[in-house]
Amino acid sequence: MKPFIYENPTRLYFGEGQIRHLITETKRLGNKVLLLYGGGSIKRNGVYDAVMNALKEAGAEVLELSGVDPNPRISTVRRGAQMCNEHNIDWVLAVGGGSVIDCAKAIAAAAVFDGDFWDVVSHKRSAQGALPIGTVLTLAATGSEMNAGSVITNEETQEKMGWSASPHTFPKFSILDPAYTVSVPKEHTVYGIVDMMSHVFEQYFHHDEMAPVQDGFCESILRAIVQTAPKLVEDLENVELRGIIMYCGTMALNGLLSMGVTGDWANHDMEHAVSAVYDIPHGGGLAILFPHWMDVAVEKHPERFAQLAENVFGIKPEGRSALEVGKEGIQALRDFWRSIGAPTRLSDYNIDDSRLILMAGKATTFGPRGRFITLTLEDIADIYTRAL
Ligand code: NZQ
Ligand code: ZN
Repeated sequence: MKPFIYENPTRLYFGEGQIRHLITETKRLGNKVLLLYGGGSIKRNGVYDAVMNALKEAGAEVLELSGVDPNPRISTVRRGAQMCNEHNIDWVLAVGGGSVIDCAKAIAAAAVFDGDFWDVVSHKRSAQGALPIGTVLTLAATGSEMNAGSVITNEETQEKMGWSASPHTFPKFSILDPAYTVSVPKEHTVYGIVDMMSHVFEQYFHHDEMAPVQDGFCESILRAIVQTAPKLVEDLENVELRGIIMYCGTMALNGLLSMGVTGDWANHDMEHAVSAVYDIPHGGGLAILFPHWMDVAVEKHPERFAQLAENVFGIKPEGRSALEVGKEGIQALRDFWRSIGAPTRLSDYNIDDSRLILMAGKATTFGPRGRFITLTLEDIADIYTRAL
């Protein structure tokens, strides 16, 4: 296990009815709130009313910015930061999925940044701090509700990059009411499930052998998802099942799984390049790419895949080689994702081979990717080609 420092300052309120704590949190963080949300799902499912009632009870002065796009854009960040400054906003409240939360983190940091915030997202400069952020999560997927990371797209240059200003961009609090997620349509429920499983995989595929507890955490989350997801996609309004998935999504990317180990993360770089160019849902892209990455990685390090096959999918080795067992595990993952309705090929999003090299170039902006296996631009182009 490698040396590590761990701190996660986000206060979680999990469960039905926890929105009432928005009143005390508003009194704690300040009277002037920028309320950020997406395309309107919160108005249709009642979450907007619940939030506004709590803000009103706290006596808050609320400024709204709506229309945050999935794969949130730097232009929205700039607009939000300007609103914060013009109106002396105390803190930013994100109500939505990962896109709204990521956009809130960027707005909060851009509001106190001297310069163009794309320089921070593109790793040219560091953020100088951030206004406080709070979140009300409405979609289980990214884990952004309990981490400091954010992913922003520059629509002009077709770049999509992850950045963080830890510790400033950890939400001060996050309200996780599974009932707020029952209205998530099946396709986005599935994308979220794929995304959280991918976060576990990114951290599970490492070379730090003495990390049985971390491996166990990963396998436990994956098993819970594999058991729960098929029931949930048939019963989308089941709050108990939504709760299990919501908890899995948050635990998958709040730092718990990566203590003392070095994860891979190449699949996220590859997917971000695809959604930078084609604006596809992040979880859909991961469902397509990850199995092909696994086909390449299993040939180099089959033991890890055999462990996954046995401990998550219950595949018995029965005297076979690690490579054989590992490959059966990858097939089990493919079958599982297909069974819940995830996409399997880039052509499902009408993506052909015309921009594969362009995407592979974007994925390797900062050099070869991945730490479990290392991928060059050509290796990534090969994985895209397999996924067509
Ligand atoms: O915009 P609205 O109308 O709210 O609709 C959204 C959106 O269309 C809808 N939705 C959300 N909650 C709903 C709902 N519909 C009905 N009922 C509800 N309760 O779902 C659609 C997708 O929302 P979005 O926020 O885009 O999805 P997700 O949470 O998957 O976030 C994706 C973004 O997060 C980034 C991705 O790259 C992508 O940009 N990521 C952020 C990470 C992080 N900060 O840690 C890590 C991830 O790996 C990921 O890269
Ligand atoms: Zn992800």
